[in-house]
Amino acid sequence: MAHEKLIEQIKKMKIVPVVVLNSIEETLPKMQALVDGGLPCAEITFRTPCAADAIKLTVEKYPDMLVGAGTVINREQCEKAIAVGSKFIVSPGFSEEVADCCAEHNMLYLPGIVTPTEAMAAIAKGLTTLKFFPASNYGGLKTIKAICAAFPYLHIMPTGGINESNILEYLAYDKIIACGGSWMMSGTPEEIKEKTKAAVKLVK
Ligand code: 3PG
Repeated sequence: MAHEKLIEQIKKMKIVPVVVLNSIEETLPKMQALVDGGLPCAEITFRTPCAADAIKLTVEKYPDMLVGAGTVINREQCEKAIAVGSKFIVSPGFSEEVADCCAEHNMLYLPGIVTPTEAMAAIAKGLTTLKFFPASNYGGLKTIKAICAAFPYLHIMPTGGINESNILEYLAYDKIIACGGSWMMSGTPEEIKEKTKAAVKLVK
């Protein structure tokens, strides 16, 4: 799928749930909760060993879900994430080797940045849709606006410290395509579903 189309899909979601799965058994109940909550989207992070298997299972079970791989920090993880069907790749920072791997596979890559220098490294690789992480620690919306003033063609997905109390402020800025966050992911599948529903209601 063309990157623009995927970015449009992420934009429509407005929220990208950041998911950490401690075991493969957690995968389907949590994904089902997101789907039932009205947000068929997830960034499944490579912070736990089952990430690749969890993405594979999710893609098989929910082929229409917008499933990406998060916390991808090297080529090995990136290759794995792509092989199991991830639709986009996210890193907490900018990684040249992940950028190259994604380019080779024509895969959408959203690297993390917080400074103009990091933004320039991403731009040099032709990347203009970037994660801003950890957003709240690095000045939040104020810093995003200052960076976008210097690089007006950038689009940003802030993540880190975003929740129902501040997401609307972020989404009101037109350079922001969506916000990542994990606030809806704690608790039982039923609780995840309810928090997801509330989040969707808030942003739509
Ligand atoms: C991420 O990697 O994007 C963050 O861990 C999500 O941040 P949050 O837990 O503060 O939402």
